Amino acid sequence: MFECKVFVDATSPIGTLDKRCYGQFIEHLGECIYGGIWVGEGSNVPNMKGYRLDVLEAVRQLNCPIVRWPGGNFVSGYHWLDGIGPRDQRPRRYDMAWGQDEPNTFGTDEFVEWCRLVGAEPYIVVNAGNGTPEEAAQWVEYCNSTKNTYFAQLRRKYGHEEPYRVKVWGIGNELYGRWQIGFCVDGAECARRTIEFAHEMRMVDPEIKLIAVGCEDPEWNISMVRHAGEYFDYLSIHIYIWGVNKSYRELVSYSVDIERRLRNIYDLIQSARRKYNIKREIKIAFDEWNVWYPEAKPPLLSQITSIKDAVFTAGVLNSLHRLCNEVPIAAFAQTVNVLPLIFASNDGRIVLTPQYLVFKMYGENTGDNVLPATSDSPLYKSSELNMYIPFLDISATLTKNGNTLYLHLVNRHESDAAHLQVSFRGYKPIKGCMQTVAGETVESKNTLEEPNAVRIEKGDVKVENDKVILELKPHSINIVKLEGEPTT
Ligand code: AHR
Repeated sequence: MFECKVFVDATSPIGTLDKRCYGQFIEHLGECIYGGIWVGEGSNVPNMKGYRLDVLEAVRQLNCPIVRWPGGNFVSGYHWLDGIGPRDQRPRRYDMAWGQDEPNTFGTDEFVEWCRLVGAEPYIVVNAGNGTPEEAAQWVEYCNSTKNTYFAQLRRKYGHEEPYRVKVWGIGNELYGRWQIGFCVDGAECARRTIEFAHEMRMVDPEIKLIAVGCEDPEWNISMVRHAGEYFDYLSIHIYIWGVNKSYRELVSYSVDIERRLRNIYDLIQSARRKYNIKREIKIAFDEWNVWYPEAKPPLLSQITSIKDAVFTAGVLNSLHRLCNEVPIAAFAQTVNVLPLIFASNDGRIVLTPQYLVFKMYGENTGDNVLPATSDSPLYKSSELNMYIPFLDISATLTKNGNTLYLHLVNRHESDAAHLQVSFRGYKPIKGCMQTVAGETVESKNTLEEPNAVRIEKGDVKVENDKVILELKPHSINIVKLEGEPTT
């Protein structure tokens, strides 16, 4: 057991938490869309109008704020007109990105309807690989226009009188990569392309927010900001942590690495804005992230993650809380069957991974403002990162009315429990309760055979002399919900 003193300051929030940091990503790839999100009305798997019911219900329970679609590498060869209109007349295409058949049964109308059913905002990425700015602008018109013009009328003809009001649009995916259809040789080329797309898309709907392709190459990002900085609102960043050959301690350190990398990219964007006098505010959309194990290979990209991945995942969510001003949008890659948060088998069974349980706990238990939270946690050395990592990771959020305070606590220690004493400035806790995901070992996972091996458990919290006393299990993710009142 190790001891930690934690201090939370409720008088000076770091910023407002944009709940879109809990976003999800679904792609036409493997069995994510077909088999996961969509099974079709004729399927033996229980469904509602073709949407797979168990997955729908599981995603609804996440309180997921935003979903990114349709890709991913897939989008760079996707033509949205293939995916609207009577389903039996939609063309079956060859998807060059992943080498699969694309039946186009699930398209824009299905995606938006599914988002409404799970309570999330749709975020659409347009094809800036082999697609054109005109095609992208027409997609915006189809979704958002109230005019009496062709694509808006087409939406009405297919039964959707009201515009979809899709606010967030991405311009292309990973255009820096040689694997990407229509990749760009450098940031300047991508900037030029981004400008053309943004220009036409905004002519149709000036209210939309645009996410452009960024990466971890500083030259790329500087070019994007320098040449196209007045045209987009967010730079997209993707980070996957390769799970292969990493010890438990190294793996769970990587959220700290991600936090520092995102902050570095953000700072670089701001330097470039200053240098090139860019007036438009630019933040980061961290719209693909996860752990990636070698077994997750095409065509399915399937893997079953365990507690250690959940510890990493909660670490990232805590980091995103701290980065609330810099990274307001994020999307976990991916929601179902591909690098999955949820595994949905063809015979109608479903597995909720420990990572899923983390998203569920956070989605249900989070405040509106992020508070500074510090601890005197002992540290360990990550040799891969050459950094000292605290065993305890903590973030704190407070609701607008100042009464409910959440502590988001990760105990990274693989074998020791943590004993915590939490004190506050500007807040008096009255009572509290705790939820925990820990499993028996760092390798514990949920499987088809044992779907409930890892679950959310309840824990105890004591309030004494305005302090909160609690104990965290080894390798655990915990959220403490406190009821109390602001003090001055
Ligand atoms: O999420 C799987 C793939 O990883 C996405 O299609 C691509 O954008 C990234 O390289």
